[in-house]
Amino acid sequence: MHFLGIDVGTGGTRALVIDQRGRVLASAAEDHQPFASPQIGWAEQDPRDWWRACGIAVGKALRQCRIAGEHIACIGFSGQMHGAVLLDEPGEVVRPALIWCDLRSEKQAEELTAKMGAERLRRLASNLALPNFTLTKCLWVRENEPENWSRVRSLLLPKDYVRFRLTGERATDLADASGTLLLAVAHRRWSEEMLDFVQMDRALLPTLYESPQICGRVSAQGAAATGLAAGTLVVAGAGDQAAGAIGMGVVSPGAVSATIGTSGVVLAATCLPALDPEGRVHTFCHGLPDRWLVMGVTQAAGLSLRWFRDQLGGVDGHKDSYEELTAQAANVPAGSDGLLWAPYLMGERTPYLDANARAMLVGLTASHTRGHIIRAILEGVAFSLRDTLLIFAQMEVPVKTIRLGGGGARSPLWRQIQADVYGQSVETVAVEESAALGAAILAGVGAKAWPTVDEAAEAVVRAAGKTVPQEPNLSLMNRAYESYRRIYPNMKAILNAEPCARKPLRRVDR
Ligand code: XUL
Repeated sequence: MHFLGIDVGTGGTRALVIDQRGRVLASAAEDHQPFASPQIGWAEQDPRDWWRACGIAVGKALRQCRIAGEHIACIGFSGQMHGAVLLDEPGEVVRPALIWCDLRSEKQAEELTAKMGAERLRRLASNLALPNFTLTKCLWVRENEPENWSRVRSLLLPKDYVRFRLTGERATDLADASGTLLLAVAHRRWSEEMLDFVQMDRALLPTLYESPQICGRVSAQGAAATGLAAGTLVVAGAGDQAAGAIGMGVVSPGAVSATIGTSGVVLAATCLPALDPEGRVHTFCHGLPDRWLVMGVTQAAGLSLRWFRDQLGGVDGHKDSYEELTAQAANVPAGSDGLLWAPYLMGERTPYLDANARAMLVGLTASHTRGHIIRAILEGVAFSLRDTLLIFAQMEVPVKTIRLGGGGARSPLWRQIQADVYGQSVETVAVEESAALGAAILAGVGAKAWPTVDEAAEAVVRAAGKTVPQEPNLSLMNRAYESYRRIYPNMKAILNAEPCARKPLRRVDR
């Protein structure tokens, strides 16, 4: 038996095939069109492009492992969260999807908070209203494009649109639905109270499933477009954060992941919904039926290093590679000789929930070099992720093991910096494409190859290496972190006043 995981990301769609022993037989991707940004702070993608990329990625993966579509026993999905895909009566796309990093609905988020109150929002949806969430995006379309809104008969999340094209079903999973603000996260069902409050029709929403539940079969049209066999089972799958956590073995309390991609996410699995009284972290359903997750987001984690590379990373047209950049940083002592980086290039979610936060390089002297700046960036991103670990400690969310993911796990120096900053050992996992792997694992559970997601993750996910903190660096990093934590509170008044405040966030192409 073979299982297919399809991860509908922002930059591209990946298809990954595993066998019954959890071995990865194929992994192939197809890029999406870069997202459009018709105005600063807007981010839109055409959902039909995800479906195109899905067909190509699946075809590539099947060819890579030389199996026919008939040999795939079950398919699972993972995907970028929060995006609003709006369909009309016949199922055609009404307008381009507003994706997760589209921040145009800040006003709608503020108004919803003012009308409903933060307490009631947290009680109903376990989260505060942010422009990243699907509901505020829908409210923006309703207010600003009433003509488009009047044609909307169905609201889907990004991967669920691809599922719709593959199977004809309108379905979603609880983990992805958690990022809409329309789910009663603690009760694992749509929130009638929230729907009533915003006067939104329940009939717009897809059917809810737990992640490993079967929710449809590949249709004849879906089969023709992908090379998969008509009738193949499809499970609900999970939003990319939950699927990625499953693919990293972060399924039970104590297990934590720290993933540095464009953004950075520190995520912990919990047995009950864990709420931060200040709403600094998101509380979502996990991809396991009796589990939740709590996660903090650094908006510009890997993006900090990419920004340095793109803007300052070379001379005469030569851009240093990430390896060259980190090699320069490796020559600088831990603590970057007092230089600090606060990575708020795109505002910040955790812990400040402040779209007006701005990045800062603090403590620069004439003795500092390029290598110092690069090292300070790597350390500053790790400090920002530690902010989430600190919130977890305040919430009494246990942190026993930390597994690293994303580009931040690839660099030995960034792994060491993370171990030193978090003050504990960190592990890497054997398969880097954790969200696609998580989706394939869920497919395997749906097909009954493993009885539970816990057992499947235990059987499939392998730790690949361990980095231990270096004793002399620990107290140095603790002191540097204490200084880092004082940067934003001391700068907040300046950042929130003219001329810094309300400058639109810069467009970033992914
Ligand atoms: C999660 C989030 C991103 C998106 C895109 O809250 O905004 O991780 O899911 O990958």
